[in-house]
Amino acid sequence: MKTDPIYIFRKTWATYQKVISNNLMFHKEILTAVRELLETRPGPLNVLDLGCGDATHIGKMLNPGQVAEYCGCDLSPYALDVARKNLEPFGTSVKLLCRDMVAVLREAPANHFDVVYSGYALHHLSLEEKQTFFTESRRTLRKNGQIILVDVMREEEQLLPAYHDSYNGAVATHWEALTPDEQDQVQEHIRNCDFPETPTDLQKLAGNAGLTSSRRLEKQTWHEAWCYQA
Ligand SMILES: C[S@@+](CC[C@H](N)C(=O)[O-])C[C@H]1O[C@@H](n2cnc3c(N)ncnc32)[C@H](O)[C@@H]1O
Repeated sequence: MKTDPIYIFRKTWATYQKVISNNLMFHKEILTAVRELLETRPGPLNVLDLGCGDATHIGKMLNPGQVAEYCGCDLSPYALDVARKNLEPFGTSVKLLCRDMVAVLREAPANHFDVVYSGYALHHLSLEEKQTFFTESRRTLRKNGQIILVDVMREEEQLLPAYHDSYNGAVATHWEALTPDEQDQVQEHIRNCDFPETPTDLQKLAGNAGLTSSRRLEKQTWHEAWCYQA
């Protein structure tokens, strides 16, 4: 049976909040780089956030006046409850859906969004679903629209088992802010549910969708931020 990739997020959002508050996945550096890009887009923007979690960071990357519409989706109802609070300054422009991100993307209107954002969620999808992510994002983006992808990525040439070993090694040595039980849960989640691609493979998927311009915004170990556009 396939392991539920969001079990850990449904059951223990508090562990992920600990990961964020101790900057274990470099949210701070990534947030700075993405905010710099978003500052060049005064808006008002239509934003689609896939796997939005509790929206802590997107809420800090965008100013309320910059957003015409924010649509976030996530499969964790607990995270969405927190997101609702975090996004209060954005008022009525916010729509939150407890739904699968691929399904939401397939139903999104054509030529509608200025930004499709996804933070640390894409690596849970299969390769075919990742292609769908780029293809459907391109369809729903307006002219000059951008995909901003924050995710874990394998080093070029690094195979998945080697990635799992290295990342879990880093969890064992550097994630001492988590209890041993929490570390075990995270390592199990990584081994069973994380399928990151290399930056080059993601560029190929984006290219297949006609998104031929791409640039890296930030890289901290396996944690990267990229922008793709037509
Ligand atoms: C590591 S958290 C990231 C949350 C937030 N975007 C951030 O950057 O901090 C990954 C989130 O993706 C969600 N997720 C995973 N697979 C999903 C899917 N197929 N559809 C919607 N949400 C999904 C999980 O529930 C979880 O909230």
